[in-house]
Amino acid sequence: MDRIRIVGGNQLTGSIPISGAKNAALPLMIASLLTDDTLTLENVPHLADVEQLIRILGNHGVDYSVTGRRERQSEGYSRTVHFTARNIVDTTAPYELVSKMRASFWVIGPLLARMGIAKVSLPGGCAIGTRPVDLFIDGLQALGADISIDSGYVTAKAKRLIGTRYVFPKISVGATHVLLMAATLAKGETVLENAAREPEVVNLAECLIAMGAKISGAGTSTITIEGVDSLHGARHAVIPDRIETGTYAMAVAMTGGDVMLENARPDLLQGALDILAQTGAEITTTNSGIRVRRNGAGIAPVDITTEPFPGFPTDLQAQFMGLMTMSSGTSRITETIFENRFMHVQELARLGANITLAGQTAIVEGVSKLKGAPVMATDLRASVSLVIAGLAAEGETIVNRVYHLDRGFERLEEKLSGCGATIERLAS
Ligand code: UD1
Repeated sequence: MDRIRIVGGNQLTGSIPISGAKNAALPLMIASLLTDDTLTLENVPHLADVEQLIRILGNHGVDYSVTGRRERQSEGYSRTVHFTARNIVDTTAPYELVSKMRASFWVIGPLLARMGIAKVSLPGGCAIGTRPVDLFIDGLQALGADISIDSGYVTAKAKRLIGTRYVFPKISVGATHVLLMAATLAKGETVLENAAREPEVVNLAECLIAMGAKISGAGTSTITIEGVDSLHGARHAVIPDRIETGTYAMAVAMTGGDVMLENARPDLLQGALDILAQTGAEITTTNSGIRVRRNGAGIAPVDITTEPFPGFPTDLQAQFMGLMTMSSGTSRITETIFENRFMHVQELARLGANITLAGQTAIVEGVSKLKGAPVMATDLRASVSLVIAGLAAEGETIVNRVYHLDRGFERLEEKLSGCGATIERLAS
């Protein structure tokens, strides 16, 4: 298994291009199941999760081809991908595929809406809490689906889904994506209340509208969908990755330096940028992206609580904890979205961090220096917090189980070494 070797202590200076967002690309790719025309997606990041979903969609009969930046494809750059689900050849998503990536469970919405049936394995994915699927089942039932669960599979059937008013009992990004997609082909009007307001939901809704769906209110907690008989092809761009943006912004805040995050959009993570500014980083928005600087001054401690958008994202919690390990005081980090999302704590402690857990809150006492050590990546966002800490730690840090990073960060070592970090991949 590959490992990443970092020698800490260098400031980051230069520019980092921000890739297309993984969490926007995945539901957009799944939306291709809704039509027999071609859905062309621009700015699709080159990531293990995207490749895995391409395989899963291929199993259902979705053909794909890649154009754009052809000369750079092998280097792993974002690109334009065409998806065509001319014939759905299989409405079952098997355990072997779904267990590798939780988001692939989301095929249940479009398959059911278009084909009248979907049989999807209960998911796997990052080991961050139990992550049930009750909201998906409840919501699809409200749209008139007949659902049964047997031998680890959810089977959903409906001749045609029927529009309804559905109030999510809890905010869920994935369940919002699924009900939004399913309702586009339902008969009549669907109103989704307490829907997720994440930018990825807006990106999906805009794509569905380009495909002929009638949707209003995406980005607010009430989304209205007027069902149509069929959708057609479209061309749509994946938004820049707000989690990648926040991650590199925190890396610069940690090491000091001056980095331009090209293509980054501040409106996608304003809450997190405001918090970063409170830690002492200087954030400026320009027409080409976001510039992050920290020179000389220490890192001020700031308390955060993770919340659904527009609050502080859970997907930046681990990285922010990495930053707070070297703050000049005490910070309290409270996780409200997922249970068991503190697996990075013990690994950060191996680098010399002083963190105490009290239920869903981590109390981080800043230390004046971290010291490099071998550490283990435990999930996608946790692993990149170890990279951030390693960049500031004295000496060598080796991050093991790098495949977690490859699921969500495009060309991480190249982007960081381009800004002066000493970081390399050690092939197994
Ligand atoms: C998505 C993101 C993930 C991010 C998360 C929260 C993708 C591919 N993944 O995950 O990176 O951390 O949003 O911003 O976009 N829940 C239930 N029942 C359900 C569904 C969810 O109880 O049926 C709970 C979850 O356990 C969790 C909370 O709802 O506690 C929010 O989860 P959700 O927003 O659904 O996360 P994902 O869509 O899986």
